[in-house]
Amino acid sequence: MCQFQAEQSKIINNCNIKGKYYRIDFMCEKIAELARPGQFVHVQIKNMGERLFRRPFSIFDVSDDGVLSIIYKVVGYGTCVLSGLKNGEICDILGPLGNSYSIPEIGETPIITAGGYGAASTYLLAKNSQTKGKVLLGAKNKDELILCDEYKRLGFDVEIATDDGSCGYSGLVTDLLAYFLKEAGIKIYGCGPNSMMYAITKMLKGTSKIAELSLDENMCCGVGACFGCVIKVVAKNEKGWEYKRSCNEGPVFKSNEIYLDF
Ligand SMILES: Cc1cc2nc3c(=O)[nH]c(=O)nc-3n(C[C@H](O)[C@H](O)[C@H](O)COP(=O)(O)OP(=O)(O)OC[C@H]3O[C@@H](n4cnc5c(N)ncnc54)[C@H](O)[C@@H]3O)c2cc1C
Ligand code: FES
Repeated sequence: MCQFQAEQSKIINNCNIKGKYYRIDFMCEKIAELARPGQFVHVQIKNMGERLFRRPFSIFDVSDDGVLSIIYKVVGYGTCVLSGLKNGEICDILGPLGNSYSIPEIGETPIITAGGYGAASTYLLAKNSQTKGKVLLGAKNKDELILCDEYKRLGFDVEIATDDGSCGYSGLVTDLLAYFLKEAGIKIYGCGPNSMMYAITKMLKGTSKIAELSLDENMCCGVGACFGCVIKVVAKNEKGWEYKRSCNEGPVFKSNEIYLDF
């Protein structure tokens, strides 16, 4: 069972970084200290009126002086309200929640495949990794690409794929990953839309490579109580699968655990 805290957290920065993407920094000392790469926080966004559910966001970064940062995309009501909050306002934050990525060991080269706001989930992993590797960033178009420079500044080699070819390789980011699969000593990580995570799972099936993939399931309680976030994982039973809670046993799953029924 993971250890988590509820913390009244003051906003110290909330700014647009590109298009619909924002960065928000909270003073959130207890959670920042406990945070591990791949974990998330459940944010009670202030001024949401009767809409009481928290919203889950990956922990993008933490600093030694207690700042916890999130990169978020405005997609609906909650994230729209979040984007309007001002410095000094307080949100109740629960975290750090979920499991985490394993840090690459010396001799292992991380290959991180990330799509959209998934790039926020793997940043702390790259920051903590002793060996530098590649980040394959995918997006619909160049306006949706985020965090390229931030990964480059960590010493990672960044390759880009866009669906419409407006930047980098024209096509799916999983096509780029396919080039590296035969390389020895790589460790594969991924976060992005579930369709992308399931595509990676499919690519690795029947190979000796196992990826750590963060799945993006809608969440309700975020702490393992409601079973609203389950995914199918491989099991040794009649059906061949069972449910696991993405918020509790995930959000990071090994690719050979993920059950594909299509
Ligand atoms: C573990 C985890 C980590 C996440 N990390 C980030 C992050 O770092 N940055 C970021 O921008 N977003 C992240 N998300 C997605 C984020 O939680 C949703 O975008 C957010 O809850 C939408 O809230 P809303 O009120 O604006 O949207 P709503 O008005 O509730 O919904 C708008 C649209 O967003 C979809 N949506 C709602 N909740 C989710 C969800 N949990 N996952 C996917 N789609 C959803 C709805 O189906 C709908 O299409 C993460 C989700 C999970 C589960
Ligand atoms: S969101 Fe409630 S169990 Fe996962």
